[in-house]
Amino acid sequence: MKNLELTWLGHSTFLLDTPGGKRVLIDPWVMGNPACPDAYKSLDKLDLMLITHGHFDHIGDAVELARRTEAQVVAIFETYLWLAGKGVKTGMGMNKGGKVPVQGIQVRMVDARHSCGIQDGDQVIYGGEACGFVLTLEDGLKVYHAGDTALFGDMQLIGERYAPDIALLPIGDLYTMDPSDAARAVELIGARRVVPMHHSTFEGLPGKPADFVAAVGGKAEVTVLQPGQTQAFAPAVAAAR
Ligand code: NI
Ligand code: MN
Repeated sequence: MKNLELTWLGHSTFLLDTPGGKRVLIDPWVMGNPACPDAYKSLDKLDLMLITHGHFDHIGDAVELARRTEAQVVAIFETYLWLAGKGVKTGMGMNKGGKVPVQGIQVRMVDARHSCGIQDGDQVIYGGEACGFVLTLEDGLKVYHAGDTALFGDMQLIGERYAPDIALLPIGDLYTMDPSDAARAVELIGARRVVPMHHSTFEGLPGKPADFVAAVGGKAEVTVLQPGQTQAFAPAVAAAR
């Protein structure tokens, strides 16, 4: 198997080319995402799409991309129902605490502390709750995408129970953790490799990667990606953790 290739498309949107040859998109905000490079705005092959919550900057292009790619879409129950009502025919709703194999990848839905209303025209629809995901890829590598979240103590439990190798954490402040809280999250989760997200996309997100790197202070390896940049990750070595 090849190594995971993780590409940041800006904000909380990540494209994973998995060791088993699948393409996974987390938080499909691509066409409308000002940070997403043009080369990725015409994605036409996706196997799986994961949605952490119903805010536009996470779900914005879900319906269009599901139609175009027929990817399996996984979201929390109420958000999936909304997507189904918009014509999404592939995928499933689930809820926190559960796990399910999809396309050969184990998808576990975990807690996040955030809201989840879906803006639909001039209405706000109840979308369930915001979540995170811990994915176990085909080579055993475990990737935690925290979604939008505040710092919360049960991140320690996520670390203890699911032992993610890589954590993708929001650092932008205002809507999520700031760099200092995100660095505390790194300690709670115990992940050795972390990638900051939900920063620098638009005005009003003061948390920056340099502050996060400084706050982590060498306790984990921080990979700061630019939008469109890809990083490969080798399979986890169990003894190293
Ligand atoms: Ni949000
Ligand atoms: Mn957001």
